[in-house]
Amino acid sequence: MDNKIPFNTLKPGFKKYRDEYIQAATRVLDSGWYVLGKEVEAFESEFAKWLGLNHCVGLNSGLDALILALKAMGIGQGDEVIVPANTYIATVLGITQNGATPVFVEPDIYHNIDPDKIESAITKNTRAILVVHLYGQPCRMDEIMEIANKHGIPVVEDCAQSHGATLNGKMTGTFGKISCFSFFPTKNLGAFGDAGAIATNDYKLADKVRMYRNYGSKEKYYNEVQGVNSRLDEIQAALLRIKLSHLEEITIERNNIAQKYLNGINNPIIQLPKILTNARHVWHLFVVQTKERNKLQKYLADNGIGTQIHYPVPPHLSEAYKYLGYKNNSFPITEEKAQTSLSLPLYAGMKDNGIKYVVDALNSWR
Ligand SMILES: Cc1ncc(COP(=O)(O)O)c(C=O)c1O
Repeated sequence: MDNKIPFNTLKPGFKKYRDEYIQAATRVLDSGWYVLGKEVEAFESEFAKWLGLNHCVGLNSGLDALILALKAMGIGQGDEVIVPANTYIATVLGITQNGATPVFVEPDIYHNIDPDKIESAITKNTRAILVVHLYGQPCRMDEIMEIANKHGIPVVEDCAQSHGATLNGKMTGTFGKISCFSFFPTKNLGAFGDAGAIATNDYKLADKVRMYRNYGSKEKYYNEVQGVNSRLDEIQAALLRIKLSHLEEITIERNNIAQKYLNGINNPIIQLPKILTNARHVWHLFVVQTKERNKLQKYLADNGIGTQIHYPVPPHLSEAYKYLGYKNNSFPITEEKAQTSLSLPLYAGMKDNGIKYVVDALNSWR
């Protein structure tokens, strides 16, 4: 049976600004220039300005942003990077693809890295604290920056899920030394294919990432370092410029849907997400928790409601990181979240009767 309410659909979000997207795509196709050009430069400058930072470098993906940000910082073999245990594996791949070692820290009640547990994870080899503003909610950045500054350790922000989220009015992505963004289509600021970027106020870091993304050369055919190909397409940049100009409306719509869930869901065996004081959550995902998660997911599926689990296997227990030697119960809070979390449908263009249908289904579940 087709879902009555899918977990996600990108079509209504596209249709709302269809004419603008078609115009932008046509402009690029007509231009005859398709990779790294005027559109990429314009997007980089608009995105940096929107963040209030000096530099943005457009890349192929959020994963590349993480890999190249840490590489530009000179992080490699023998170095440790502190990272939340509760995150998508891409965050951790950014560390290990550079040959460095992830040092996992358990989450707080907001699903984000727990600042109270960071200090004990710091060693003489710690080269960075890589935070993730998971599900669209900022980490407790004031506390994290205080610890980082006290120890002189740079902070890197994974903002793949947090475009436009703020803490005390300050944008996520502007607290640390460098921030990493994904523009995968399902992200709040999603392109129409893979895309990503780094943003920073540090000219040297931006310059290094710019060099790495293009085979390690600043000047064509003169290669200073062993780089990669992680260039941003003109067409994606042109489409991202349109979406960025509407991001505030898109975020308000996501927030309205989330508020309807927060006000409507009142089933005592379903735990709602908690929101940090003075935070602007941008609701990339609306994640509830319940002990009987798999039963709830099946019940909702039987009622035509799509859901997803973010994430069923924490990185430290994944096959990919078996060599790190972690066993069950190494990070019990993270592991419990993997067993109990369920993401509800939330997308641009979701109708009120659809939201009500999901709320009613959740409230009638026993
Ligand atoms: C927290 C987080 N970091 C990094 C990434 C990687 O982004 P991308 O899919 O663009 O490589 C994602 C997206 O999937 C993510 O959710």
